[in-house]
Amino acid sequence: MSSSNKNSDQPAPVRLGLIGLGFAGTVLHLPSLSRNSRARIVAVSDLSESKLSQFSADFPDLHVRKELDYRSIIHDPTIDAVLIASPTPSHAAIAVDALKANKHVFCEKPISNTIADAQKMIDEAERHPDLILMIGQVLRFWPEYVQIKKQIEYGKIGKPIIARTYRANPMPASQFYEKDELSGGVIVDLGLHDIDFLSWALGPVKSVFAQGGNLSGRGDVIDYAQIHFNFVSGAIAYMEANWALPENFPFSTAIEITGTGGMIAADNCDSRASYQLTLKGQKRFTAAIAELNGYHYEQEAFLKAVQNKRETPMNAAAALYSLRLAMAAKESIKTGKLIVMDEATKTASASASLNEVAK
Ligand SMILES: NC(=O)c1ccc[n+]([C@@H]2O[C@H](COP(=O)([O-])OP(=O)(O)OC[C@H]3O[C@@H](n4cnc5c(N)ncnc54)[C@H](O)[C@@H]3O)[C@@H](O)[C@H]2O)c1
Repeated sequence: MSSSNKNSDQPAPVRLGLIGLGFAGTVLHLPSLSRNSRARIVAVSDLSESKLSQFSADFPDLHVRKELDYRSIIHDPTIDAVLIASPTPSHAAIAVDALKANKHVFCEKPISNTIADAQKMIDEAERHPDLILMIGQVLRFWPEYVQIKKQIEYGKIGKPIIARTYRANPMPASQFYEKDELSGGVIVDLGLHDIDFLSWALGPVKSVFAQGGNLSGRGDVIDYAQIHFNFVSGAIAYMEANWALPENFPFSTAIEITGTGGMIAADNCDSRASYQLTLKGQKRFTAAIAELNGYHYEQEAFLKAVQNKRETPMNAAAALYSLRLAMAAKESIKTGKLIVMDEATKTASASASLNEVAK
């Protein structure tokens, strides 16, 4: 990447390759990424010819190279970074290849569907300290959730003691989601968003207990889970992750965190982003917030980190910690037992300071 634009102090746009032209690549990322002046998408890849043709039809104004093999992107010396939005089991191989080829990597969540593969990504990133490996745990950039984290850090609700989250979406249509060995099921895929946020907001987890199973009958995955977390801080949390829904059920989310001084809550019922604060002795208060979504802010954070050679605000070690918590919840469902997290994973706790939240 050349260091700056001619006649300007602005750093040059990051030359980017997008790998995976499915839902995450084209619906979640492309709309904001293609408008971000920090990025120039120069190539896209998908191993399906029809996805490449569909891309040309859907984005006629994006004149980019189209490749069936992602390796053509990562071995292109003019490309600075890749955004990986392919199915979860392919994340590790693509990310490791890209890092070896000297590319910065933004990889969709979950970091991987196995702890061993996630560790391989982290090990490879450690061999390239000048490169960024950022994982798209998007709630750390989602305006409502960023506000909740901020209000907790400002001490608005006192010491957090109770948390409750809900996330529900019909199981996505792509076939890999219905196989446990590929997607990891609803806990590793969908519930991971709240798991990651709770560990970011409330700190390391002492123990996990969960119940759930394959309730819809589709595939072999856990498609519904209720998970209880005990945090080292003494806080307790209950979360629900649900894929066992009719296909016309709308994507639904909710979060409440109660502290010794009040409660903060948000949900996606309203099309305008907002959060509610209920503080002891004060009138209940609803605040409207930013209109852009978390995908925009996480892309911005990644691109800024690449341009300014700064650390990413969402590193892979934190993503691995969240994956370990998700695996513990699955283990609890399998064994019916409370899972105690070991000391080693506690030290990998995912807390990041507010000034690392790129806004
Ligand atoms: N952050 C979020 O909110 C969010 C939401 C949805 C999905 N995701 C994640 O994004 C990833 C993709 O999910 P999706 O729903 O878009 O899946 P999808 O099936 O809709 O799209 C994946 C695309 O990747 C392509 N692909 C597969 N292997 C490839 C390879 N080796 N090289 C290039 N392309 C390849 C497939 O042909 C497909 O077009 C998953 O890890 C998923 O968990 C994240």
